[in-house]
Amino acid sequence: MDKFIIKGGASLKGKVKISCSKNATLPILAACLLTEEPCTINDIPQLQDVKTMIGLLSSLGADVKSDKNKVTICAGNKLSLEAPYEIVSKMRASYYVLGPLLARFHKAKVYFPGGCAIGPRPIDLHIKGMENLGAEIQVEHGYIDAKTKSLRGTNILLEGTSGPSVGATVNVMMAASLAQGTTTIIGAALEPEIVDLANFLNSIGAKIESAGSSNIKITGVKKLKGGEWTPISDRIEAGSFACAAAITHGKIEIDNCSPEHLGVVNLILRSIGCEIAESKNKLVINAASNLRPTSIITAPYPGFPTDLQAQFMSVLSIADGTSLITENVFKSRFSHALELNRMGAQIKIEDNVAVINGIKILSGAHVMASDLRASVALVIAGLAAQGETSVSRIYHLDRGYEHIEEKLQKLGANIKRVTDK
Ligand code: UD1
Repeated sequence: MDKFIIKGGASLKGKVKISCSKNATLPILAACLLTEEPCTINDIPQLQDVKTMIGLLSSLGADVKSDKNKVTICAGNKLSLEAPYEIVSKMRASYYVLGPLLARFHKAKVYFPGGCAIGPRPIDLHIKGMENLGAEIQVEHGYIDAKTKSLRGTNILLEGTSGPSVGATVNVMMAASLAQGTTTIIGAALEPEIVDLANFLNSIGAKIESAGSSNIKITGVKKLKGGEWTPISDRIEAGSFACAAAITHGKIEIDNCSPEHLGVVNLILRSIGCEIAESKNKLVINAASNLRPTSIITAPYPGFPTDLQAQFMSVLSIADGTSLITENVFKSRFSHALELNRMGAQIKIEDNVAVINGIKILSGAHVMASDLRASVALVIAGLAAQGETSVSRIYHLDRGYEHIEEKLQKLGANIKRVTDK
């Protein structure tokens, strides 16, 4: 198993290029199942989750051709309609194949998904969405068995008690693209990755209007064609590098990013003392030598992303005063706090609120990654800690960050990957 050894203290400087978004690439790859014609997806990030999704499509019988960072998927008419447990258990986004298989072949069997251990992750909204479109769903022996004579468009209220769901919006939007008639998703998620998926689907013949608003209208079509797409850049990776710059009091240029997707994140960075210069595809962050405390509340987009909560907790652990983080999306997503406390941080968790009393400097320690974003938070903390930090179980991190150690090394960080014997 690999781990990172980090010698903290270097102030990050230079340029980093952000990869295409994992959370946009995964649904776009699944959406290739909606057509028998080939779809080419460019600039695919080399990530474990992306490999898992490509493996899943291939196990269903799709023809997959990879060429460097580009993959061509051709999902012919003879596909298996069962997503196997061995693959689905590795990644939550595997359930993205449910909507496309059901819409195109009227049948699908998908095991309950795995993914990051960040608290309860129900799938009731996915099931409700498919049922509203006319599917019969049975949940038994750990899998979802779905069938339909044909899907029919309708109005679907998709919001749950924790707000809109990215995954359910994705699944219903894909299924409704091939349903008879018009579907309106009420309470849709607004994330940029949803807009990117809608734009891709429209480019292959779907009729989706108002993606990015809370009411998405989808007029079903008989068939979709093939096409080519490059997913948007990864706003969470960009935000993670901004945190790495902030905690090391560095100055970096973050290229191939979309600052418009980082609105509230940049507001928070400014509020703690970072200068941010935004232009079309890049962002320059110049961090203060003393970081101020702040208050963060996670919320669905355009609110502060839960996927950057852990990274900001690391940064705020050395701010000059007490900060509060309220986690409203995954209410118990705080496993990183205990590990940060091993590094000297003073963080207390009360229900879904973290109280972070800033200290002068973190100290290097052995820490363990427990989920994707928690792992990168520990790496970020290690960059600023006195002495050596080892972060084990970084397979979590490899699910979502492409060549992270090389990117950090280019910015001057002292980080290396070692394999435990
Ligand atoms: C996606 C992202 C993940 C991010 C999350 C929230 C991908 C591949 N993953 O996950 O990185 O952390 O959005 O921004 O894009 N919920 C229900 N019922 C459901 C589904 C969700 O109650 O059927 C709840 C969840 O428990 C959570 C909230 O809705 O409290 C939002 O979850 P959701 O947006 O669905 O997250 P994912 O799509 O799984």
